[in-house]
Amino acid sequence: MIHKKLKDFPEDFLWGASTSAYQVEGAWNQDGKGLSVMDLGNHPEDVTDFKVASDHYHNYKEDVALMAEMGFKTYRFSIAWTRIIPEGTGELNQKGIDFYSNLIDELLKHDIEPLVTMYHFDLPQALQEKGGWENRDTVDAFVNYAEVLFDEYGDRVNYWLTINEQNMMILHGDALGLLEGNPDDVQKGLYQANHHMLVAQSKVFDLCHQKVEGGKIGPAPNISTIYPASSKPEDVLAANNYSAIRNWLYLDAAVFGRYNATAWSFMEEKGITPEIKAGDMEILEAGNPDFIAFNFYTSESVEGDFGGENSKSNFTGDQQVVDNEPGFYKRHQNDNLETTDFGWEIDPVGFRTTLRKIYSRYNLPLIVTENGLGAYDKLEDDETVNDDYRIDYLRKHIKQVQLAITDGVEVFGYSPWSAIDLVSTHQGINKRYGFIYVNRDEFDLKDMRRIKKKSFYWYQNVIESNGQEL
Ligand code: BG6
Repeated sequence: MIHKKLKDFPEDFLWGASTSAYQVEGAWNQDGKGLSVMDLGNHPEDVTDFKVASDHYHNYKEDVALMAEMGFKTYRFSIAWTRIIPEGTGELNQKGIDFYSNLIDELLKHDIEPLVTMYHFDLPQALQEKGGWENRDTVDAFVNYAEVLFDEYGDRVNYWLTINEQNMMILHGDALGLLEGNPDDVQKGLYQANHHMLVAQSKVFDLCHQKVEGGKIGPAPNISTIYPASSKPEDVLAANNYSAIRNWLYLDAAVFGRYNATAWSFMEEKGITPEIKAGDMEILEAGNPDFIAFNFYTSESVEGDFGGENSKSNFTGDQQVVDNEPGFYKRHQNDNLETTDFGWEIDPVGFRTTLRKIYSRYNLPLIVTENGLGAYDKLEDDETVNDDYRIDYLRKHIKQVQLAITDGVEVFGYSPWSAIDLVSTHQGINKRYGFIYVNRDEFDLKDMRRIKKKSFYWYQNVIESNGQEL
């Protein structure tokens, strides 16, 4: 669809950017914080762990001031469950509660709307040792944790996100360092864990509406358009399979309160259907989100795979690359798209398609909570970082948001990854995403000083002009 005239971004559009606790904060064992699975996860030897990260914990005021200088209307950050309840259940940690309370106050002082992710991959290790999400008790632990957050911050936080990229945790737990061994062998447990997360999430939607006056809450999966490798009906069917298993399983449960039929039949076929307790489906139906937040980096493509002799899962160790699922779909390289330095396909038009697909399926307002380019940035001698490639990526994607708005999609915010450099999930600090450079290397912490990249000034102007000047 070619529009003669584009609609403007809404006046109150939430421009901002995102981070997550374990990737940006550091202070991994300070002020009473308990250990999370991310603190203890396996790291490739050539990349840093998350112990110091960008040391945002000790520099949050400076960081928020820089976000304010860029003109942020919102800042999406996650709360580390282990700072609030170190063992996952039981005793609260006042210093952790105070940290986020101060961060929220600092944001509000600068008129920045806090957008809070309750859980971004970093499950308390104490819960993991009791079976993690496979253990039904984790549902109650999460609801209890959510209640603490609503009690402590519900007076100041209007926008809540439950679970970051639940779908990536289930499909690519290996890439995120959450899973050891061959994911084929642990799929049954994963889909049981998935069911528990869905139940916990719906209970928390409901709780938010009871406890937070005017509070709005949504899920935050990674959603992407899936292309068939060709117009061959078998390829189209494979794309349909993968869309159901990767995307709609999660959002259908969150919004409609039911399991997607194709995804369910996939689980049946593999003998990995979860145990559903009496009352669970009623819980899924009762808890409803107010909006859908989603992350988008790339589209994906698949071809038909009907379980021939040579079919074999190829777990790639990267959360944005399709792992084959023999009999259902097989990864296909889309030659129409360029890739980033890290091999992710760049597809702004696919972003527009994704926005349209989600909106027409669920008819709920959308906010983009991640989108961005991981790259090797270079700090020049004159203290500049000339990240034109990042500007180019973001510009093309923001343009597609405007086109989607013109198509009639209700989008109320754009919060790309990431506000400031942080440690990538499995590829270290030198895979940078931020508008603000943090002066450290993989193993040399240097002075951690903050330096504004070229994209900082560019994004400042985008926000100032409400998206008119890209
Ligand atoms: C998403 C996650 O999967 O992608 C973030 O929510 C992550 O935590 C981001 O950092 C980019 O991925 P990566 O692997 O480059 O850090």
